[in-house]
Order: sequence, then structure tokens, then C-alpha cells
Amino acid sequence: MDSVQFTDAPPKVLVIDDESMMRLQAKKILQSCYTVEVADGLPSALDILEAYTPDLIFLDIYMPEMDGFEALQKLREFDALKDVPVIFLTAAEDSETETKVFKVGAADFIKKPYVKDVILERSKRILSLSRFQKSLEKEVDRRTAALIASERKIMNLSLQMVKTLASAIDAKDTYTNGHSVRVAQYSREIARRMGKPSDEVEEIYLIALLHDVGKIGIPDAIINKTSKLTDEEYDIIKKHSSIGAEILKNIQEMPKIAIGAHWHHERYDGRGYPDGLSGENIPEIARIIAVADAYDAMTSRRSYRAALPQPVVRGEIVKCRGLQFDPLMADIMLSMIDEDVNYDMCDKGCGK
Ligand SMILES: [Fe+2]
Repeated sequence: MDSVQFTDAPPKVLVIDDESMMRLQAKKILQSCYTVEVADGLPSALDILEAYTPDLIFLDIYMPEMDGFEALQKLREFDALKDVPVIFLTAAEDSETETKVFKVGAADFIKKPYVKDVILERSKRILSLSRFQKSLEKEVDRRTAALIASERKIMNLSLQMVKTLASAIDAKDTYTNGHSVRVAQYSREIARRMGKPSDEVEEIYLIALLHDVGKIGIPDAIINKTSKLTDEEYDIIKKHSSIGAEILKNIQEMPKIAIGAHWHHERYDGRGYPDGLSGENIPEIARIIAVADAYDAMTSRRSYRAALPQPVVRGEIVKCRGLQFDPLMADIMLSMIDEDVNYDMCDKGCGK
């Protein structure tokens, strides 16, 4: 076997053996390559370990007070010693002891009496392996951290792009400035109060931000019309849910992203559009957004009316509970309204 040279400071070893002759012999051999400390059992080893962290421990198996296997267990209880490789020292020849040595997690074992080259070469091999393992772990940690950072960067970039897109949608409509962000905020709060885990809550926020993306495909003249819409114009407006679903369906990394755009105008009683789904056949995310969307519509200024007073909004939610809205989400919205004593939860033009 090629001999391994250590270029840095000599590695530190600790020899724990109750026989003084054996300790001396081991020390004599090892100190040609290492800094060596010796102990006659676990108690004196623990004293030494208070100020000395070895890179390798030699541990005698047969000791009178506590055998090597038990001593190893005690040593592993210390954080600093958890990964320090241990070589057992034994005069035993039986294969049972050899098997146990590896089962308890020792790196190797050396038979007594010591043969200088064997003890040196084996210890060097174990130390090299241990150093290699540590540098590998460091590299894995470094790369994992870099990966997490770049993932976070991509997430932030996606969020910023979605927000930009949401403001582009809102900009088409003079009277719904900030609508997408507010609907997303209310949806997020409803989801949080439903007890959803935080990653799902954030996903619902993103989905809700894009619920009206289909309005991109609707002529501005219809969206911003101040007089009453004709039936034909209303049919065109209604197409925004299918257009939105079509736009978002190709984002494969987030298969749920189109749900909000597609079904936020479905009604719990089945009288909504585009598919006339009812009850729990409407995806839960769309039922959440439906309440948030209607709430924001009522609490925002329109070309033909001011924002509605809070009691009127509350009354509408109660009236539509179980008809337009899922009762669970309607109740959560009502509790949010009741906590909003200053009527802050509205478009800035709500004129309270
Ligand atoms: Fe909509």
C-alpha cells in the first residue's frame, strides 16, 4: 500500500488501553507520525478530551472497568466525537469479535501484538478516508446551499413576473387598479384561516394573482365601458375565464396555476360559468378566489358607483352564502370582515 503523507500539522490521536506496556508500545510507534495522547480507560480519556479533540482514536476492547464497545458508545455521545474514526485494539482471534467491531461502527481493528507498519499504514488509510469524507460533506453542503439560493432566486423572479403580469391585467381596467393583488391577498388569508400549510397558502396567492389573466384577450372598450353591457358584450367578457385557462395551461411546472383563472366565476349553486360546476366539484382554490373576487368587486369603486359600505358588503356575503359562495369560505370572509373594524380591507377609493 502506498504510504500517505500528511502535509499539514500532524494528526492527533488518542490511545485508550488499560495495559501500560501496550500504551507505551503504541505511543512509541505512533508518535513518529502523530501527536499522541494516551489514557488507561474511559474516565482518564474523558479528562484528556476536554482539551484535546483527536482525529483518530485507538480503543482497547478488553478493559476491566468498561469494555471498548461500551466506551465507544459513551464517546459517541459527545458531538465533537461523533465522526471521529475509531480503531479497536484486540488480542482476540475469534471472528465474532471481528464482526462486532464493524457492527458497532468502528473503522477498523488491529491485532496485538502490534506490527509497526500495520498500525501506521492502517491508521493513515483511515485518516485519509475520514478527511476525504469530511471534504466531501463540505462540498455537498456548499453545493446544496448554492442550489437553495438559486432556487430562491428563480422563485423570486417568477413571483415578480407574475406580479408584473397581474398589474398589466389590472392596467387594462381603469377601475380595477390593484384588483389582482388584493384578491390574491384575501385568498391567501382565507387559505391561511382554513389551516392550509404555508407552501399551499403561497401557491394559492400566486394562482389568485393570475385569476383575471384572460382579460388580456378582451377588448379594452368592453372592459372599460361605463354604460350597461349588452348581452353580447357580457358574453365576450365571460370568455375571460376560458381564455385565462388557455393562456396558463402550458405552465407545466405549476399545473394548478390555471385553476383560478378557469373557474373563479363558477357558483356553488351551479349557476356560474364557464362550466356550470357546483358545490365541491368546483376546485377548492377557485371557491376561495370566488369569495375574495366578489368581496373586492364590492369594496372597490366602479365607474357607475362608489365602493359599497361595509354592512352592505357583509349582507351580500351572507345572502350569497351557499348560493354563489361555498359556505365555509363565506364564513371565513365574514369573520375577516367582522375583525376589520376600521374597514381597512378595501380599495383605497372605498371612501369610508
Ligand atoms: Fe374574473
